Amino acid sequence: MARNRIGVVGAGFVGATLAQRLADAELGDVFLHDIVDGMPQGKALDIMETGPIVGSDARMIGTSRIEDLKDCDVVVITAGLPRKPGMTREDLIDKNAAIVRGIAEKVAIASPNAVLVTVTNPLDIMTHLALKVTKFPKTRVVGMAGVLDAARFAFFIAEKLNCSAQDVRAMVLGSHGDAMVPLPRFTSVWGVPLPELLPDEIIQQLVKRTVDGGAEIVALLKQGSAYFAPSQSVVLMVQSILKDERRILPCCALLEGEYGLKDVMIGVPVVLGRTGIEKIIELKLRPEEQALLATAAGKVADGVKHLKL
Ligand code: NAI
Ligand code: 2OP
Repeated sequence: MARNRIGVVGAGFVGATLAQRLADAELGDVFLHDIVDGMPQGKALDIMETGPIVGSDARMIGTSRIEDLKDCDVVVITAGLPRKPGMTREDLIDKNAAIVRGIAEKVAIASPNAVLVTVTNPLDIMTHLALKVTKFPKTRVVGMAGVLDAARFAFFIAEKLNCSAQDVRAMVLGSHGDAMVPLPRFTSVWGVPLPELLPDEIIQQLVKRTVDGGAEIVALLKQGSAYFAPSQSVVLMVQSILKDERRILPCCALLEGEYGLKDVMIGVPVVLGRTGIEKIIELKLRPEEQALLATAAGKVADGVKHLKL
C-alpha cells in the first residue's frame, strides 16, 4: 500500500512539533517546508535520527522548496507570525494573509487533491482565505482551533473536578478568538452533563479561562504562543482524515445555511474522514447560544471583508 504523504508548511514551533508527532505516530511520510533555508532540513534530519531510538520508520524530508510538497494527501499550513503579549490574533491579519495566500496558491498546484488543514492565525479568516485561493471544494479545507479550545476547556474542568481529563468531552464552537463559544450544555464528564457537576458561577470562570487560553500562554512565554497542545490537536485531525476514523471534532468549516449562517467559516462539530469534512453536525442551540455564534460569525465575516477576497 502506498504510504500517506503529509505536507507541513512552516517549521517553527507548531510545524516542527507537529512533524515530530506525525513521525512518532507513523501516519505517513512528512514533507516539512519553511522559507528559511537549512532549518527544515536540519529539523527533519534531527527528527529522523530519533527513529532508531523510538523504533519508528517514518520518513521526513525537510525542504525550502514548497514545490516538493507534491501529491500530498494532507497539507497543514502553520506558516506565519505568532502573536506577542498584548496582541490579538486579529492583529496578525495582514502579514499572515500575505503568507497564507502565497502558500495556498502553490499548494493548490503541487497537491491538488490534498485535504488542507490551516493553523495560522487569525484562524477562521486564514481558513477562508485558503479556501478561496485554492478553490478546493469546501470539504477539503478545514481549520484547527476547536480541538485545541475544547482540550483547554476539558483540561480546566478536569483540574477543577480533580478527575481524569480523559473522561471529559468538551464542546467549543465559534471563532478562535474573543468570540469563541464554549458550550457547557454540550460538555460532559463520562456522559454526565457539566451543569450537573459544577455550579454555573464556576462553569463561567472556566469558560472565560478557555476563551483567554491562548493569551494566558502568550503572557507566560513572553514571546511566541502555544505549540504543544496545538500540534497534538492537528495530529488528531490528520489521523482522523488519513485513517478515515470519522471522528466528530469541532473544526472550522464553511457554513452554507447550517446554523442559519451563510458563506462564513467558523468552528462547528464535523465528521472528519478520508475526504475531509464529511458532514457538519447541527446542534440544537438555545437562542442565547445561537446569538453568540452569530456574533462570532459576524467578526470573522468582518475580517474576511477586510481582505477583499
Ligand atoms: P513560529 O514563528 O515558530 O513559526 C512560523 C514559521 O513560519 C517560521 O519558521 C517562519 O520561517 C515560517 N514562515 C513564514 N513565512 C513563510 C512562508 N511564506 N513559507 C513558509 N514558511 C514560512 O510560529 P508558531 O508558534 O509555529 O505559530 C505559527 C502560526 O500558528 C501563528 O500564526 C500562530 O498564531 C498560529 N497558531 C494557531 C493555533 C490555532 O489554534 N489555530 C495554535 C497555535 C499557533
Ligand atoms: C492559541 O490559542 C496561539 O491561537 C493560538 O494558543
